[in-house]
Amino acid sequence: MSRLVVISNRVAVPKARGAAGAQGGLAGALNSALKKHKGVWFGWSGNESKKPSGTINMQRSEGVTTATIDLTPQEVDDYYNGYANSTLWPLFHYRLDLTRYERETAKGYERVNERFAESVTPLIEEDDLVWVHDYHLLPLGERLRSRGLKNRIGFFLHTPWPPTRLFVSLPSHERLVKTMLEYDVVGFQTQEWLESFLHYCQKELGAQVNEDTGEIVYGGRKCIARAYPIGIDWDHFQAQGQTEDARTAEKRLLASTRNRIAMIGVDRLDYSKGLPERIDGIGRFFDQHPERVRDLVFIQIAPPSREDVDSYQRIREELEQKTGQINGARSDVDLVPIRYVNRGYSHAELFGFFRASKIGMVTPLRDGMNLVAKEYLAAQDPEDPGVLILSRFAGAAAQLPDALLVNPHSPDDLAHAIDTALDMPKAERIRRYNASVATVQNDNVEAWTEQFTADLAGGAI
Ligand code: G6P
Repeated sequence: MSRLVVISNRVAVPKARGAAGAQGGLAGALNSALKKHKGVWFGWSGNESKKPSGTINMQRSEGVTTATIDLTPQEVDDYYNGYANSTLWPLFHYRLDLTRYERETAKGYERVNERFAESVTPLIEEDDLVWVHDYHLLPLGERLRSRGLKNRIGFFLHTPWPPTRLFVSLPSHERLVKTMLEYDVVGFQTQEWLESFLHYCQKELGAQVNEDTGEIVYGGRKCIARAYPIGIDWDHFQAQGQTEDARTAEKRLLASTRNRIAMIGVDRLDYSKGLPERIDGIGRFFDQHPERVRDLVFIQIAPPSREDVDSYQRIREELEQKTGQINGARSDVDLVPIRYVNRGYSHAELFGFFRASKIGMVTPLRDGMNLVAKEYLAAQDPEDPGVLILSRFAGAAAQLPDALLVNPHSPDDLAHAIDTALDMPKAERIRRYNASVATVQNDNVEAWTEQFTADLAGGAI
């Protein structure tokens, strides 16, 4: 088996692996992928150093070697806060209203990709498979090729890929996609994002595209683009569910909600997650059924994210305001309908919270996949499972058609789903759970890694 070199912006260094909700799906998924293949995980340390230093910090833990570099404050501003999170992230989540186009940050993005290439190249051996992740590093493959790297290099996008009509609003759209065609394999979460990408390559670049095989021929090179839906680390998550921490968390939540049904949401505090819209839906539910305020308690766990970006500061304020309004209007001396928590929890604790919650609310406005939806299902008691309310705009909806699918933009739709979930008979809950859980268990992170790396190693071509 070839060694695997994984490159991503965020690396889950061992000491930071606790707060599962805060790190997003990517870091957790890659950690388990790497344990199975001996290899190296390269990326940004998350720290800043005043001057660019050539130092690579290597650590070895649980069979995974991590290699990280610091970035300068200017690099973090231009590359991470700027181009990655103020341009590509909103654009890829269909939020043109929040997307900023600045030539300076675009240059910073290119520079940091070049720095990544420079730092990681000496760590790559001849037969290694190189696997680059996410929107921070779209041009990295081309940068590695320009240094003479002949290895098989793959790329996986964890976010959606936007429709061509939106994507062409990016000033450098052509250049960016041309760099992506330097990879051997390009992976997407769903068929929908894959089709948008192939459409772009065909219509805008004039590439030769085979829609059945995903083969793209452009400029004398051949690249394969396919959908590889990411999954959770089922075994690890189940093992976490057996721990004392998980049991304590479950008991804590049950004791504090007593006769009320707990409904839970766990999301990074990000506008793509549809949090204010979710609160509006809950508000609508209470408006329509004021008598049910004693039946339900909603727990929203939302660890802050990307706090130096304006749009993230605004979403935080908006959410605090909306939550405050509903709690102000609907609370009583012994009752607060919404518990809003700005911190992350370990996987064990989340397992316990999910198991104690009879409704899971996963209602992003747009999401590449969303692993919280899968974790919620994985934590349920098969004899008495809860109900997953899932946005039809999450990548996960394509795999989980038996969840209660909703339009997260519609407060009425959300209110109706809450009502349906609260009254759903046990037999139907079990039917829906059984129809969903097999894909969560089988299409897990291990299967995802194996499929991608097999294609990368040559199976696809
Ligand atoms: C999403 C992205 C990841 C990112 C994660 C957390 O899942 O696809 O690339 O790591 O969010 O965001 P952060 O900016 O904290 O890395």
